[in-house]
Amino acid sequence: MSQLWGGRFAESTDAFVQEFTTSIGFDQRLARYDIQGSVAHARMLAKIGVITDQDRDDIERGLALIASEIEAGSFAWSVALEDVHMNIEARLTELVGDAGKRLHTGRSRNDQVATDIRLYLRDAIAVCTAELERLLRGIATLAGAHTDVVMPGFTHLQTAQPVSFGHHLLAWFEMLMRDAERLDDCAKRVNVMPLGAAALAGTSYPIDRAYTAELLGFDRPAANSLDAVSDRDFAIEFCASAALCMMHLSRIAEELVNWASTQWQFVDLPDRFCTGSSIMPQKKNPDVPELVRGKSGRVYGALMSLLTLMKSQPLAYNKDNQEDKEPLFDTIDTLLGSLRAFADMIPNIQPRADVMREAASKGFATATDLADYLVRKGVAFRDAHEIVGSAVGYAVSQGVDLADLELATLQGFGAMIEADVFDILTLDGALASRDHYGATAPNQVAMAAKTALERVERRCAR
Ligand code: ARG
Repeated sequence: MSQLWGGRFAESTDAFVQEFTTSIGFDQRLARYDIQGSVAHARMLAKIGVITDQDRDDIERGLALIASEIEAGSFAWSVALEDVHMNIEARLTELVGDAGKRLHTGRSRNDQVATDIRLYLRDAIAVCTAELERLLRGIATLAGAHTDVVMPGFTHLQTAQPVSFGHHLLAWFEMLMRDAERLDDCAKRVNVMPLGAAALAGTSYPIDRAYTAELLGFDRPAANSLDAVSDRDFAIEFCASAALCMMHLSRIAEELVNWASTQWQFVDLPDRFCTGSSIMPQKKNPDVPELVRGKSGRVYGALMSLLTLMKSQPLAYNKDNQEDKEPLFDTIDTLLGSLRAFADMIPNIQPRADVMREAASKGFATATDLADYLVRKGVAFRDAHEIVGSAVGYAVSQGVDLADLELATLQGFGAMIEADVFDILTLDGALASRDHYGATAPNQVAMAAKTALERVERRCAR
């Protein structure tokens, strides 16, 4: 009987059941954190006198050796040993003898695995956050360099009003900054230590959980042992934050795909982020944004998996929870890869100012400005809206833009219109007039881009 828990069993596990119940194929990823948790646990056991200092030193020496075997790829993972925890413990006993058998005193795999995942996720959040900050910095810098590039702003994907390209980029910045803040918040609830909950009820040894928590850098030990071993809400919360972030990345991706198309040509994507077609020689496909857009699906799927996994579990630990790992790991990999791709690519997109300006000059983007002009001449806004609507209708019928109409023609719609109307019908005039906090005037966008960069730098300096 090779199982560490084999004592009460009269026959060996069915071969298929062994395959079916093992998690070693995917929980190996936790090895580093499993070792980190075991070192802290052993130090705590020695501190309270449950194991000797000699045992502790043997355990630490053995675990260090195991870490280097895993690092070197020479560690022999065994399906029969079920999971990462028992693989490491069995090897430890092989290496250091009885001290290895004492490591699991006052501990269960239930608090062990919950601790490992939290340690793992804490690091993963830090790595994702660093990539997100790199992306935020890139976006804010690009925005600051293009405050007075005019593009059409859209509602319903119809030309609405001219906006600064930098202003559009800073909308992305705000979306992603909220995602960074959500990850910060999630990290607070991740950083609580289950260790000491043991199987479900705590342990009869006089353990010092505050000491273990301190060794592992947790903010505090979890307050309830049943809750500590069973809930995976912290992983669900991370996946929810990741899903929101992927949703934002997907919206950005969609815009980049549109902008880079032959029909729009608002931006050029660097060749190194695109691929060609095996049949159509002219193609330059925006694969990176398309993939990011597509990958949002699997992250939403992982969130659904985890919510469903959790929802019917009675207290406390159930083997269902072994299924938490693959969706969580896939979410981390997908989010990290998507953030990295965008952090590399987005600072290098080349806006085509002339094309965007040309596009903004079509579609009556300054019609609202004409209505506001009439209001300043004493017309009530609703009447002004009506007058401009008629003028636009006429221009459409003539196939021209508002600014192309003669003054006399415009005056036919509103007698109060004067020659100065042509100043406000320009794109730059329309842009410059929206000159308040949060709006698109280039001087406001310049200030906003500067503030945005400062916000990133302040985060990074924490
Ligand atoms: N491999 C298990 C998991 O991922 C470890 C905990 C197993 N605990 C148990 N009582 N069977 O959740």
